[in-house]
Order: sequence, then C-alpha cells, then structure tokens
Amino acid sequence: MEERPLYGKHVLVTAGPTHEPIDPVRYLANRSSGKQGYAIAAAAAAAGAKVTLVSGPVHLRTPAGVDRIDVESAEEMAKAVREVLPVDTAIMVAAVADWRTRDYADAKIKKRGSAPPALVLTENPDILAGVAASAKRPPLLIGFAAETNDVVENARKKRKNKGVDWIVANDVSGDVMGGDDNEVHLVREGMVEHWEAMTKQDVATKLIEQVAERLTADA
Ligand code: C5P
Repeated sequence: MEERPLYGKHVLVTAGPTHEPIDPVRYLANRSSGKQGYAIAAAAAAAGAKVTLVSGPVHLRTPAGVDRIDVESAEEMAKAVREVLPVDTAIMVAAVADWRTRDYADAKIKKRGSAPPALVLTENPDILAGVAASAKRPPLLIGFAAETNDVVENARKKRKNKGVDWIVANDVSGDVMGGDDNEVHLVREGMVEHWEAMTKQDVATKLIEQVAERLTADA
C-alpha cells in the first residue's frame, strides 16, 4: 500500500463517552476510555488524512496531526459533528449516553433527609443515525457496536437500522472497556470478518487500511 493512502481525504472520528449533566457537580456517563477512537484518529492521520476528532471527556493526548474538538454531552457532540460535515468518511466510535436528565438543575441538588431525588430521563439524539439520514451523509459511514451477547446478529441489525455501511462490533462482556486489546467483527453488506484479538492500535491500523482501499476504489 502506498505510504499516505488517505492524503486529500477528510476523516471524522467521534470518541470517548459523553457526560450528561444532572446538576453543576453530577453527571450520567457511559464507560469509555476513548482509546479505540483515538487510535483510529491517529492511524487515519498517519495515513495522510485530514482528521477531525470530536471527543467526549477522556484522559488522552491528542494524536499528532489531529484536529480535536472537545465536547461534553451528546447534544454538544451532535452539533459539533453536524458542523464538521461533509467528510469523506465518518467513523463513530463514541460511547454516547442514550439518555440525559430531562430537567437539568442549575444549582446543586441537596440531600433531603429521606427521599433521594427521582431522575427523569429523556432520550438523546442518535448521532450516527442522524448522520446517516443527513443530506451530507459521507460516502463511507462506519459505526461501532459494543455488545455483550449475540454480537454479530445485533451488529447486523444495527447496520441496517442505523443506515450505515460498516459496523465494527465488539464483545464487551470481558475487560475491553479501558483495556488495550480488542477483538472485533467487521460487519459489512453480506459479509462478516472476524479479527482475532489484537491491540486497539492494530485494530485501528487494519480498519484504516480497509477504509483506504474502499475510498481509493471509489475514486
Ligand atoms: O445503538 P448503539 O449505541 O449500540 O450504537 C452504537 C453506535 O452508534 C456507535 O457507533 C455510536 O458512536 C453511535 N451512537 C451515536 N449516538 C447515539 C448512540 C450511539 O452516534 N446516541
């Protein structure tokens, strides 16, 4: 493969969790280190792409050559993503919280003797499905799916329901969250590839190689 196969391409990556504020000191969040998304952003930059990384709160350094936009909540992430489009490919790795509190409290909620406060939740926008349905849908749209059971079957359904091209599915019933390794299935139209367990960097490199093949085949 040539050295900078993604030169001239713009790649959008979302990574990390989102934090959904309850009050000024508390939030709801998903468990996500951001490592896999950051590794993908780094691999895309190393392959010569212009990379925009929309990141939830993580403790990671920005990879070399990557433009990073920091966000906290799913709504902020959705807005940032909309502003970055159009791109050649979007790889949505973020573990977006499915819900946020309906009523954000401007002041810290006080402990009130006996009854703890009831949190009323409301659904967050599905950022990936929104990108898939948008007029600016990238020619190659990739989602991730963390599953604890029926990994491939659930990923196939997710690919169809969300209207994306590829789903990278991983089994998170082990200690993938926060760990350095990942074992994934790449689910495409009519095809599933199982990749043996490898480091998140290696998953990223392999995925970016396939992205480069696809984007250059389309060119
Ligand atoms: O439905 P589920 O959360 O398992 O889907 C995972 C995929 O969808 C990931 O690519 C994730 O980044 C994306 N997603 C999103 N916005 C949401 C929920 C998930 O972009 N609100």
